Amino acid sequence: MRSNGAMHIRSNGHARWAFDLSSWQPSWTELLLATSCVQPDEKRRLAKFVFRDDVHASLIGRLMMRRFVHLATGLEYDRIEFDRDGKGKPFLKNPGFAVNFNVSHQGRYCVLAGLAGASDRQLPRIGVDVMKIEYAGGRPLWDFFRLMDRNFSEEEWMYIRSHQSESEQLEAFIRNWCLKESYVKNVGVGIAVDLRKISFKIGTKVLDTEKVIYDSTLRLNDELLKDWRFEESLIDKDHCVAVAFEHMHDGVDLSENCFETVGFEALVEAHKPLLAIDENYCEDIISKEYKTKK
Ligand code: COA
Ligand code: MG
Repeated sequence: MRSNGAMHIRSNGHARWAFDLSSWQPSWTELLLATSCVQPDEKRRLAKFVFRDDVHASLIGRLMMRRFVHLATGLEYDRIEFDRDGKGKPFLKNPGFAVNFNVSHQGRYCVLAGLAGASDRQLPRIGVDVMKIEYAGGRPLWDFFRLMDRNFSEEEWMYIRSHQSESEQLEAFIRNWCLKESYVKNVGVGIAVDLRKISFKIGTKVLDTEKVIYDSTLRLNDELLKDWRFEESLIDKDHCVAVAFEHMHDGVDLSENCFETVGFEALVEAHKPLLAIDENYCEDIISKEYKTKK
């Protein structure tokens, strides 16, 4: 993963940002500021999380979306309005702007993949998923795989099981799962699909933190989706990330689309609060427990 300081959208219209949640322990002022930059419906949603980690992850995702849309469109923070579609996928409600984005949070990271274009162009949808490469299931890995049987095609299981060690098998499993999620999140269908019909063939075997690979392919209901691209990379050695989008232009180099770290200051650089400071709300958040040790 790279760190370039300021947040930006690349000349190809793509943004790939990662925020390290594990190193963010917000000060009181930061929390007041952050929570005044989310819209009321999302503020209410955040309050319902039991654990503080989940509030942070989702809150940072909201700030990333707002920052991305601000940079892509020039809209002021307090004019940006998000909505969710029938399956819960957030989108920009303001009409007339060509921006698509998606957020994911797991393990240490919250990530955003975004795509911005000229306002009169139909942009492809985008889906992103980040996953920590770990197994904390308690039962033996083979038993867990047995439970997961129905979520992967025969070809996918062959690939996963072709690896020698358990850790390699786990890595292959997580990578495949992450790819599937990126696709599912692109189309926004949630989990109400037969996941065996979404079958990936892995390209380059080893993932990298400095270079994006995009040679894995997807067969949907036995048909190759040849216009789709699945960018894959590592955020760090324990986290893989996949970005899915339909891409009509062959031969475009996407290998530079690595995720860049972003910090809290950059995230709120041009912010304009939408809501008044709410001390009671923040008291409630800081009274929640962390589910992971800080
Ligand atoms: N489509 C795309 N993005 C969605 C979405 C949808 N239907 N619903 C919510 N999102 C966005 C939101 O920004 C959300 O953040 P928020 O909860 O803070 O608002 C974010 O995606 C969550 O993504 P992620 O952190 O990657 O969560 P997830 O991987 O647990 O869930 C779902 C992703 C909800 C879209 C969905 O795919 C799901 O329920 N998955 C369950 C696991 C599964 O069976 N996966 C099958 C693939 S093997
Ligand atoms: Mg996910």
